[in-house]
Amino acid sequence: MKSGARVQFSPEKVAALQARRQRIIKALNGGLLLAASRPAFHKYDSSYFRYRQDPNFYYLSGLYTEDQGVVLLVSGDKPQSILFVEDRDSATEIWNGPMIGLDGAAQLGFDQVFSIADLPRVLPELMQNATMLYTDRQHHEGVERILNDIVYRQRIAFDGLEVRDFWGFLGDFRLIKDAYEVELMQTANRISAAAHKRCMQDAHAGMTELELQALLELEMKCGGSPFTAYHSIVASGSNNCCLHYNVNSCKLEAGDLVLIDAGCAYEGYASDITRTWPVDGHFTDDQRAIYEIVLKTQKSIIDMVKPGVKIPDLQEATIKMLTEGLIELGVIKLSYEDARKNDTFKAWYPHGVSHYLGLNVHDAGRYVVEGQRRPLEAGMVITIEPGIYIQPGSPYADGRWHGIGVRIEDDILVTADGYRNLTHCPKEVAELEALR
Ligand code: GLY
Ligand code: MN
Ligand code: MN
Repeated sequence: MKSGARVQFSPEKVAALQARRQRIIKALNGGLLLAASRPAFHKYDSSYFRYRQDPNFYYLSGLYTEDQGVVLLVSGDKPQSILFVEDRDSATEIWNGPMIGLDGAAQLGFDQVFSIADLPRVLPELMQNATMLYTDRQHHEGVERILNDIVYRQRIAFDGLEVRDFWGFLGDFRLIKDAYEVELMQTANRISAAAHKRCMQDAHAGMTELELQALLELEMKCGGSPFTAYHSIVASGSNNCCLHYNVNSCKLEAGDLVLIDAGCAYEGYASDITRTWPVDGHFTDDQRAIYEIVLKTQKSIIDMVKPGVKIPDLQEATIKMLTEGLIELGVIKLSYEDARKNDTFKAWYPHGVSHYLGLNVHDAGRYVVEGQRRPLEAGMVITIEPGIYIQPGSPYADGRWHGIGVRIEDDILVTADGYRNLTHCPKEVAELEALR
């Protein structure tokens, strides 16, 4: 009989976690940081939604399983990292599988591991000397409960202790990826790119978007990813113009463009890739003309990526390139100034060109720091995802353009002297046509 799913942790993972926790402890400056695992979300009866660990707890512990736990990072005179986990319980293990337990948790490289039953004793002791407790009580009912039980009921004992939300503090660490994280994100991208490519090769008119989604996600699972990073968008025809289309139920028709915006998560890290291609292997002239504007824009904006550049500057350049491209093609019959005025361009380009990517698809990290728009830094991973969507019935374009929707999205690592594109997936017109 197989022994189930006791988790093994690689030495690289443990070393990366230890280094990460040390960096954070250093920055805590006399404070404590407490992060708790996420409870399972109940669906109905004895069913729960597919479990997803809290990304902050996972970032600090490396523990993705359903075991309930708390990470405590302690700075000051005796800096240390502590993990509290549930004790193993044979009844729970019969229903839900092997638990991590204290022995398993001891592999994760913490200075100390305790049973979660010890938290009410250990936490107040450590709080005696702390000036600041960083946690996420606004976002997490598990932490809220712990704080209510331990901190607030006994608050008289911790007079000087300030409790602060950790999202900004911890988000700034999560924003800069270490080498271990970059490798995981590269793997997530490799798996997702293979899944996109399989869809490009095997799609045909008459297939449903849902069948194509199944093929995409089969390939992701066979590649080693248990989750998609978000609900896969598998659109065809004018469905491409709906940004977060997720009905995925129409039939692909000859002459359609297919737009798939999908990425797997690997070891918790998201990929986020969009490709748009013709179901029968040939772009019409009009589809190709729009596609080439988006592709040229995407490549130019990727080439702008380097430390010091700001995401709003990338967005402004995207608005300009897409809109001028449409004006030159004769699709939009306004001047650029008129199209830019009053956000009219949002009729064909309504979203942003970039967001942070990491444990969440729209990842943690502040976009504005002390009132200033944050420049890119080496170690950030961002998306570059321009798109043009000529909505059916659009008053800005003739009917022949209506229903054409194109987005192209890659995941980009900012490096010391520029960028590295993590997404290797066909996007040139000739490549896409040759794949069929
Ligand atoms: N897939 C969601 C996004 O591209 O932001
Ligand atoms: Mn995206
Ligand atoms: Mn996307």
